[in-house]
Amino acid sequence: MLLNNSGKEKGLQMNKGSMLRPEEIQAIDSWVAKMGKHHFFETTAQRMTSATKTLNLQYEMIGHGYNRIVYDLDNGYILKVALSEIGMVANANEAHIYNNCREEVRKYICPVSEYDSGWIIMKKMDTSVRHAVLDYMKLIKLEIIFLKYGMIPIDLRIANVAFSEEQEMVVIDYGLFTMDLKSPVFRWFI
Ligand SMILES: Nc1ncnc2c1ncn2[C@@H]1O[C@H](COP(=O)(O)OP(=O)(O)OP(=O)(O)O)[C@@H](O)[C@H]1O
Ligand SMILES: [Mg+2]
Repeated sequence: MLLNNSGKEKGLQMNKGSMLRPEEIQAIDSWVAKMGKHHFFETTAQRMTSATKTLNLQYEMIGHGYNRIVYDLDNGYILKVALSEIGMVANANEAHIYNNCREEVRKYICPVSEYDSGWIIMKKMDTSVRHAVLDYMKLIKLEIIFLKYGMIPIDLRIANVAFSEEQEMVVIDYGLFTMDLKSPVFRWFI
């Protein structure tokens, strides 16, 4: 996949701007510009404080990881904003994977509806995972399915899956998955 300096895939422009207001997109752009100036060793908590202040979004924050902050758009969709360079690449990677993966695996990854530099909008999934033994077995089965269809599911773990309305296990964080051994994701591993 071709990425420009901001980690955005060239030619991949899905943003129809339908769900976010122009001023919200502007706030995200301001944060992304500031984010680059933040120190690499800054903690996630420090970045979160800085991000939420600059973003000043009126949506409920429903989660975060090390690399992205997640807001509930309250319309069945969630917004993920990058907190780091890895978050930028993860957003671009998810948009790329969702649009280019094989049909056989698409039903196991959370659908992406909009994407632009630094942010992505995905369907909201049920994250009240029960962590039952059965879920761990499903996770292993899922891992085998991805591998079978040529996708390497890096960082696939129970915290990165949720359930669809049909109670199907789906991956909500596939930002480090890859279909390509030359992917920028491998910069961190090789
Ligand atoms: N599609 C979704 N539906 C509902 N909640 C979500 C969704 N995507 C993410 N979340 C919530 O936000 C949290 C963080 O999202 P995500 O794992 O994508 O962030 P991340 O920063 O990439 O994570 P990591 O620390 O693994 O890099 C999730 O653990 C989950 O609670
Ligand atoms: Mg995660």
